[in-house]
Amino acid sequence: MHCWARPSRTNCPVSYVRYRSIQMIHFDGVSKQYPGGYEALRGLTFKLERGELAFLTGHSGAGKSTLLRLIPLLERPSRGQIVLNGIDIGRLSRRRIPYLRRRVGMIFQDHRLLHDRTVYDNVALPLVIAGVSHRDIGRRVRAALGKVALSHRESAYPVTLSGGEQQRVGIARAVVTRPPILLADEPTGNLDPELSQEIMGLFEAFNRVGVTVLIASHDLGLIRRLGHRYLSLADGKLVSDSGKGGLG
Ligand SMILES: Nc1ncnc2c1ncn2[C@@H]1O[C@H](COP(=O)(O)OP(=O)(O)O)[C@@H](O)[C@H]1O
Ligand SMILES: [Mg+2]
Repeated sequence: MHCWARPSRTNCPVSYVRYRSIQMIHFDGVSKQYPGGYEALRGLTFKLERGELAFLTGHSGAGKSTLLRLIPLLERPSRGQIVLNGIDIGRLSRRRIPYLRRRVGMIFQDHRLLHDRTVYDNVALPLVIAGVSHRDIGRRVRAALGKVALSHRESAYPVTLSGGEQQRVGIARAVVTRPPILLADEPTGNLDPELSQEIMGLFEAFNRVGVTVLIASHDLGLIRRLGHRYLSLADGKLVSDSGKGGLG
């Protein structure tokens, strides 16, 4: 179990730290060419340490979504290497990929909830797919809904929720498997500034308990206000990195 799943703990006890590497995400010379020849990412190299929170910014078409999709292997790089927590994911066997995807929580702008299922069932879905026992599912879904302050809406259908609440359900679904990595693709793209701030606050809360977070956003104002590291993409290239690690 990952310590951040226990809200009462403020620090990770040493026994929970079984990681191999200080780097949680390491891109080394990564390029992505889509079928048809378009090069969406060009020679990206950067590192995110375990427990870091960073933003990924850049104009529309810069390659932000492509970069995020490479991490859970929704796309494969054409060149270069991606190492997550010491594991070169390009060498993972096919049968390990579902396991990788449970370790990487992903949040989308349009949250992609199932509208014919309740909030509870939407959040439970990754656990059902993973074959988690019925009893554990109940416990974990309620814990995840508690973290996004939606415990009182578990029987509701997504269509009856506000945009901000729907996005919080998407976040609960992404964290219910207690992934050490959380990726969000324009999570506040459809929300007003106040709700955007609230959603970013949730990511910061997960980050404070040790989750490595990478958020694609073109809301530079919000990013600057929050003061975290940000990586900037332009035409598939990493053009700046506000982090202490530079581009290396
Ligand atoms: N599946 C795909 N096939 C071909 N080209 C794609 C595909 N997905 C994205 N692209 C192209 O790759 C570039 C980067 O897209 P994307 O990663 O979605 O950028 P961003 O998220 O920064 O807007 C764009 O020019 C886009 O048209
Ligand atoms: Mg995008």
